[in-house]
Amino acid sequence: MPPISSLECSRCHKLVSADTPQTVCPSCAGSLYVRYDMTRVDPASRPAEGGIQSMWRYSAVLPDVEPITLGEGCTPMLRSRRYSNLYLKEEATNPTGSFKARGMSMAVSMAKHYGLKKLAAPSAGNAAGALAAYAAAGGIEAHIFMPHDVPMANYLEGVAYGAHVTLVDGLISDCARMVAEHIKEQRVEQAVGRLTPEDVWFDVSTLKEPFRVEGKKTMGYELVEQLGWEYPDAVFYPTGGGVGLIGMWKAFEEMETLGWVRPGKRPKMIAVQASGCAPVARAYEAGELASRFFENAATFAAGLRVPKPYGDYLILEIVRESGGTVLELSDETILKSLLDWSRNEGLLLSPEGAAATAAYDHLIATGFLAPSDRVVIFNTGAGLKYVDMIAKAIGLKHPAEKKLPERSPVGGIITPV
Ligand SMILES: Cc1ncc(COP(=O)(O)O)c(C=O)c1O
Ligand SMILES: [Zn+2]
Repeated sequence: MPPISSLECSRCHKLVSADTPQTVCPSCAGSLYVRYDMTRVDPASRPAEGGIQSMWRYSAVLPDVEPITLGEGCTPMLRSRRYSNLYLKEEATNPTGSFKARGMSMAVSMAKHYGLKKLAAPSAGNAAGALAAYAAAGGIEAHIFMPHDVPMANYLEGVAYGAHVTLVDGLISDCARMVAEHIKEQRVEQAVGRLTPEDVWFDVSTLKEPFRVEGKKTMGYELVEQLGWEYPDAVFYPTGGGVGLIGMWKAFEEMETLGWVRPGKRPKMIAVQASGCAPVARAYEAGELASRFFENAATFAAGLRVPKPYGDYLILEIVRESGGTVLELSDETILKSLLDWSRNEGLLLSPEGAAATAAYDHLIATGFLAPSDRVVIFNTGAGLKYVDMIAKAIGLKHPAEKKLPERSPVGGIITPV
């Protein structure tokens, strides 16, 4: 495993030591990338067939720490039954049913390595579930803040895994503010000796600590490995905070440095948002370098309800550099695609994943992509985590709430044969 040489600011390129826990760049508050001494990675350490069946099979390009693992990664790459060049990366099989497991496994492993005792995060839902699970596995305290109207599964996960859950009448942006304010108050208490450094929460918000990207970058290594160490033509990524997209791009760069991927053009990165919360899509359309706060954000694709992603400048930069695009789809179109994939492919996607499948249909229709293009779409989470949201969207009531017909006199009697 390579030693981390430093953390590098994605904006001003300042280098920061990784010997102690870091959040964002001390000069400009940009997100920090983990950098390794790549000359010390043996190019022959590219995973061969078999080996560890989790994201830790890429340990050659991950920090050298004891993993807190629940078996994250190594998710199936399913070929569509209808479109022969379309592959679905099924992240639903991760622990906690979403790709957030990858980032949190890495972030919690690092937190354990640094000796941190209390972690905090705002979340649109699935990151909270993942943090709660990995914190439980690592014996670390988790404090999660999420909108009160998150999918029920995410609330239940927080409670069941024993995290401290705060439900907020607002969005993830309000949750983020509350976490930051609380930590600021704790620091004041620490300064006057009323709290020990161990009592102060460490913020593992999206892109405000460097290691969730490191976990999510394994999606990039994995998809390339599953395609025989070749790039696809395009990758569709349902984008809230954008961690996976940013992580995959970093993975491609590292793989090229190491000579792990066959030379070729990197995939077009397609960032997919919901029309009810499309800050990056609007910024992309307007040719801007960063997004504006998206007012009154609302969509049943709960993970996409991020009104102002912290790493918006990175998402926009990557999409443009890759020759990709950013799309927004209405909830109605997303739901239609969700049902289409359920009925024709046997896959109950998350609404976020269905936003990506809907985006694929759109880009084929417009000719931006051809059916012959090899494409990978991320289903970032299990549809089953959204039972309440999907049921509401299709107007399905719980059977117990339905009035059943009167029982016939013989109904329900089991008679001897
Ligand atoms: C299922 C699902 N898909 C996509 C996203 C967006 O992920 P990111 O923040 O990495 O863009 C989330 C975030 O909560 C999610 O839960
Ligand atoms: Zn900086």
